[in-house]
Parts: sequence; C-alpha cells; structure tokens
Amino acid sequence: MGITVGNKVVLVGTGAVGSSYVYALMNQGLCDELVLVDVNQEKAKGDAMDLNHGVVYAPSTMTIKYGSYEDCQDAAIVVISAGAAQKPGETRLDLVSKNMKIFESIVGDVMKSGFNGIFLVATNPADILAYATWKFSGLPKERVIGSGTILDSARLRFLLGKEFNTAPTSVHAYIIGEHGDSQFPVWSAANISGVSIASRLTDERREELAVEVRDAAYKIIESKGATFYGIAMGLARITKAILKNEQVALPVGVLLEGEYGHQNVYIGTPAVIDRSGVKNIVELDLDDVEKEKFNRSVDTLKGIQAHYWK
Ligand code: 2OP
Repeated sequence: MGITVGNKVVLVGTGAVGSSYVYALMNQGLCDELVLVDVNQEKAKGDAMDLNHGVVYAPSTMTIKYGSYEDCQDAAIVVISAGAAQKPGETRLDLVSKNMKIFESIVGDVMKSGFNGIFLVATNPADILAYATWKFSGLPKERVIGSGTILDSARLRFLLGKEFNTAPTSVHAYIIGEHGDSQFPVWSAANISGVSIASRLTDERREELAVEVRDAAYKIIESKGATFYGIAMGLARITKAILKNEQVALPVGVLLEGEYGHQNVYIGTPAVIDRSGVKNIVELDLDDVEKEKFNRSVDTLKGIQAHYWK
C-alpha cells in the first residue's frame, strides 16, 4: 500500500508546543484538514473551537476538529508533542522514562488506526523518542522524522544574524548532534552567502555562541516555564517541506545507517525533506574536532537507548 496522499494533519498533544504549532499551521495555510487529539479531550475541544474562530482570517480555509486516534487512519502527517515537559533544572534526558511509556501507547494507538503516513516527533528527548516511534511503529525510517536540531540551528542563525547584521535567512549554519547538551555548531560549514563565518569570529566568541544556543532552552524555561514558539515554527517548516514536496535540506532527527560512521541512532543532521519524508541525509564534511563531538553525541544517545533496546 502506498503512502497516504492528501494533506490531513493530526496533532497528538495540545499543550503549549502543540497548540502553538497548529496556530502556525493555520496562519500559513499549510493544510486543509487538522485534527487535535489529547488525553484531555476538553482541552482539544476548546482549542478546536478557538482555532475555528480564526479560520476566516487565515490565508486559506481549513477544517479543524478535535478527535481520536481513529482520525489518523488517512492522515498524511501525525505530529506528536504529547508528554511531560522539562521543569526548571531538568535536562531533556531526564524526561525519558515518563515519555517512553506515553509513546508506546500513543504510537500503538496511531498504528491501530491503519495510519500509513509520516510521523513528526517533537516531544523530548526528541532523538530518543523519534527512535522509539520508529521502533514502535514499524514504519520505514524515512517516515519517522524527529524535530532534531531544527530549533537549535534556528537559534544559532538568529544569533549570527545579529552578530553580522544580516537576516538569519542568509546565514547558513547548522547545529547537529543531540537535541540536548552534547549538540554543537558545525563552524567548518557555516557561511553567509558563501563567506566563511569561522574565520570572522575568535575561538572564544564561537564558544560563547555555542553555549548560548545550547543553554537557550534552560534560560527560557527559567523565565516563562516552557519553550514553544520557536519549536512550533520549526515544526511548521518541516510540515511545509513534506506537504509541498519541497526537497529542502533541514536539520532534523533521522536514523543513521552508516552516515558519519554510525548506525541505529536517531540524531540531528541536515536531511532533504520531501513528500516521502526523509529523501536523503546530507552528511556534512566534519573536521576532526567536530567528528569527536558528533561521536560524543551518538554515545550519549546510544547510552540511553541501551536501557530500552538491547
Ligand atoms: C527547546 O530546546 C525545551 O527542547 C526544548 O526549547
């Protein structure tokens, strides 16, 4: 059976990330049909009503309702943002045991509907839970995408845009590795319109920027309890790439099968995204220091995976 066509999106988890994501979807007119699923059905119902009252001002009309896992049957994309979120002082990896259980049940229920589309996983720890979704669903790896380092890369591009008084869209730079504390910027490939960024920043400044990106979520969580707008825009960007068959390279969470010398791990790296999901992984040319950092990120993630899969 072929992959589901059409552009129906089902969101599982209407917390701050999920509801900001669907608000972005509506504003960008990205799909015709949107279904909200949440353990708290009243919350999903209220969100659907509230969103419907904005549709008349959206760029295109869309059907929005709350529903159940059965609605995943003909969905093109199921986005999962359900689960416990970080509290101040917690790392993303601290969430793993709570959210793994939730995922086993969610992914099982989605698959029981006959779902044959693409999963997009945003819940933390995003790399581990993307791997879990791939394992629990039995879908081909191309059709399970983690949010990976989409947000971290956006944070870096924003900071570099400020540094060089240039729009972040003209800054080409990636954070790769774990969406977590072992992530790092690929300075060797960072450029503005082809001009290398690395040679224009001191080692010290580069380190400051990397730390600022890595710790951004902690700062936001201290300030307002959660992060959601940035990731929501990142998820909407990935959704657009899929539904519009864009073949655009985005830093997302993908399963490595030999790329960067590793396999059997979901991790953030640029990959070309189209209507089939992950069309191909873009393996960046890393220098020796970057290779070392990437290996460390893989070890961190595999260490966690090993608790659940032998
Ligand atoms: C973020 O990086 C907490 O993973 C979330 O904003």
